[in-house]
Amino acid sequence: MNTWSSESYLRHASFVPQLGQALLELLAPQPGERILDVGCGEGTLTQQLAACGAIVVGIDNSPTMVEAARARGVDVRLIDAEALTFEDEFDAVFSNAALHWVTDHDALLAGIVRSLRPHGRFVAEFGGHGNIAAIQVAVRAVLERRNLIPPRPRYYPTVAEYTSRLVTHGFIVEQISLIPRPTPLPTGIRGWLQVFERSTLDRLGPDAELALDEMESLLRPSLCDTSGHWTADYVRLRFRAKRREGPRNG
Ligand code: BEZ
Repeated sequence: MNTWSSESYLRHASFVPQLGQALLELLAPQPGERILDVGCGEGTLTQQLAACGAIVVGIDNSPTMVEAARARGVDVRLIDAEALTFEDEFDAVFSNAALHWVTDHDALLAGIVRSLRPHGRFVAEFGGHGNIAAIQVAVRAVLERRNLIPPRPRYYPTVAEYTSRLVTHGFIVEQISLIPRPTPLPTGIRGWLQVFERSTLDRLGPDAELALDEMESLLRPSLCDTSGHWTADYVRLRFRAKRREGPRNG
């Protein structure tokens, strides 16, 4: 279970749904379509999908995010993306900036293909190969200095790796690419680390502020410009796939 603070997320990371517009265009939602939004977070994009006339169900594994999304008046359920139980229900599955939090992508894709009607589409974007490489190295270095085990590296797949996974799970991949997307951080790297490395900082207790100083100083030469503006080294994997006709695997 995940305990994001939706206020903190909106203050430090409101760019996440804002940068989802290109993905919405790739999805091209139609009025009356049934769409599943996987990892919908605080529901900004779920609400936009509903405003297009689609019948949208959002799922997220964070109670605080589910609560924030429900306050927008959208149908959002507290469900883990690796444990979907929908069957042949959706014309499309959509996911923005969430799937890099998933550990078991085989369970995820099995659930998504099962949720879709035949020919239903799956349109998603998440961190791809090389995503936040500098940030990960800095976090790791600061923890290793303290003889602490760094967080397990997240899964940021290549195009070839994820294409093969999608095909194995019964999808036809129509479009897939890796997109380097340097992303300005409105509250600097400190704000980003406070939201997205929360569990690491919590492990450090009273040493967290000093650790943040060290991460910031390691990252300044590569991610901060001479005017003091910070940019995260994001790389996105973006794709559109559709469910193959015929019986599903498993
Ligand atoms: C991402 O959007 O790529 C991301 C955000 C927070 C932590 C890790 C990755």
